[in-house]
Amino acid sequence: MGDKIIDPQSEEMKFEPAEDFVINANINDPGIYKKAEEDPEGFWGELAGEISWFKEWDTVLEWEPPHVKWFNGGKLNASYNCLDANIEKNGDKTAIIWEGEMGEVRKYTYRELLAETSRFANVLKSMGVKKGDIVTIYLPMIPEVVIAMLACARIGAPHSVVFAAFSGGALCNRISDAKSNLVITCDGYYRRGKIVSQKQKVDEGLNSCGQLKNVIVVQHAKNEVTMSENRDLWWHELMEEAEPECEAAIMDSEDMLFLMYTSGTTGKPKGIVHTTGGYMVGTHISTKWIFDLKDDDIYWCTADCGWITGHSYLVYGPLSNGTTIVMYEGAPDYPEKDRFWEIVEKHKVTILYTAPTAIRTFMKWGTEWPKKRDLSTLRLLGSVGEPINPGAWLWYHENIGQGKCPIVDTWWQTETGMIMISPLPGITTTKPGSATRPFPGIKAAVLDEKGNKVSPGQDGFLAICNPWPSMVRTIHGNEQRFIDTYWSKWDNKTYFAGDGAKMDYDGYFWISGRVDDIIQVAAHRIGTAEVESILVAHPAVAEAGVVGKLDEIKGEVIWCYVILKTGFEENEELKKELISHVAKNIGPFARPQMLIFSDDLPKTRSGKIMRRVLKAIANNVDTGDVTTLQDPDVVATLKEKTMKAQN
Ligand code: WT7
Repeated sequence: MGDKIIDPQSEEMKFEPAEDFVINANINDPGIYKKAEEDPEGFWGELAGEISWFKEWDTVLEWEPPHVKWFNGGKLNASYNCLDANIEKNGDKTAIIWEGEMGEVRKYTYRELLAETSRFANVLKSMGVKKGDIVTIYLPMIPEVVIAMLACARIGAPHSVVFAAFSGGALCNRISDAKSNLVITCDGYYRRGKIVSQKQKVDEGLNSCGQLKNVIVVQHAKNEVTMSENRDLWWHELMEEAEPECEAAIMDSEDMLFLMYTSGTTGKPKGIVHTTGGYMVGTHISTKWIFDLKDDDIYWCTADCGWITGHSYLVYGPLSNGTTIVMYEGAPDYPEKDRFWEIVEKHKVTILYTAPTAIRTFMKWGTEWPKKRDLSTLRLLGSVGEPINPGAWLWYHENIGQGKCPIVDTWWQTETGMIMISPLPGITTTKPGSATRPFPGIKAAVLDEKGNKVSPGQDGFLAICNPWPSMVRTIHGNEQRFIDTYWSKWDNKTYFAGDGAKMDYDGYFWISGRVDDIIQVAAHRIGTAEVESILVAHPAVAEAGVVGKLDEIKGEVIWCYVILKTGFEENEELKKELISHVAKNIGPFARPQMLIFSDDLPKTRSGKIMRRVLKAIANNVDTGDVTTLQDPDVVATLKEKTMKAQN
């Protein structure tokens, strides 16, 4: 465990797809790569025919770098594709198997999900929500989060789902940026047997949130809540009065489907804009091919709907394929450490898609937990969110996949909308630790600073060199930031992903992680600048430098270096308070693991904190060239403090 990704050139371990898997695989002809490469537009145009359109597109691709239109002129609806389009063949098939943390199970057929979604779409309409209005959804993993998303899509109101564990303050920032005037939330939800008071967080957050008009509250945990008159309404009361039919709005291919906030390199999160046609084509096809979806699969993606993985590979991709999905509300160790395996056994899960941080946690808990359960229904496993180390990959393969399930290590991002680099399980020979090859039709490369391709085995930056259907269209309200962040490192045709990578002699990609000021904590993206700005907002803090420190389980954890204002004393109590201050203001998943007080930080002569140096200190590796620092001595002092803090 905790092994570093093995040097690709010395990496001999290979897993070929099993013969019987290949025979039955949705995609098993390697010629698909060549076909897509020779004519990407023709390739995507043909695949677009696999989803439902009210009107066909005029052009497959209009590319005016870095602006793109896919399937322009086409008319469709994402909710229609996930629901109505499945009714004829799969109306009575189970769409959602939901399990609450306390053991309750609720199931919806496609027909029932369509009726509930339509009902809620009518509720939204009756409250005055119109095409183009952004609706904020702040719900945990309960079926209503999917219903709310699909209802928004049904009437053409883009949704912005905010991860339920974010603080009320973080919610408010996102509501304000999106100019939402409706938020959908719940009373509370279960986490390790305790109720999290979600509604209370909303109330706290909304104190500073002007334009918001209404809050719809799902009654879930039945904890006590305060309902503010005229503003707050109960979901179940509204639903009682609503009709179960609502026609899907006819949307343009390039109409916004949703906004997804994600951390960037400044304190302010970016609202990533995804549109309808290209996103639906990209997620529909990639889900079908990469997870090799079959009619009788029971598919469980453990990601939360508050992140892009939940959007693309729990909701839109699988449901548009008519798949039965599993959703689980709670923690993997409640009531016992075999909860995931109990769910797999009970619901006969065939495909499991989870994150390396979860896999490493299961490794730490030991094989006795999965051994207690029957995992024989599993036939394919997936990994996402951060690099998976070969040790964790092999453990997953042997102990969960029983040595027989192919593993798809899928590289992608909030911005890419769909999986970009991944095995196709019926074609690709996998190598533990490598996401393998770009999806057909995607052109990825490893480039140096200047934009030249680096030789195999050399470190460089991951780039995407041609447009793809589900790519980010802009940053909501900040076009310049969109261009600066993704399309300015080389030229405006080459997408800068922000990850470091290598390619090996077989053309396989080995992603090493972020090269910018973003930390990937347990597969959750957190901006160092975001944590710093929260810290300096505390009355005791003068300056803060925040970096990611490598961690055996979580991939990375948050380390903070803090300079206090004069008059404040460095002590344990204040340290704890500052750590809680961050957790409270962003969310518990952003709780710093370490906070170190210092009189100074490594800065350039112009006063900019050099996080690169700080990161090297936290990780106890060579700090490289420090001659440009204002005061190079600060490095030795900080190293000493870091050593002390660790003991
Ligand atoms: C960042 C994107 C994509 C959904 C979850 C995270 C890292 C993601 C892998 C992988 C190595 C990976 C990258 C990327 N990442 N998947 N298979 N191998 N790294 O979405 O929050 O937008 O984060 O996650 O660093 O840039 P996100």
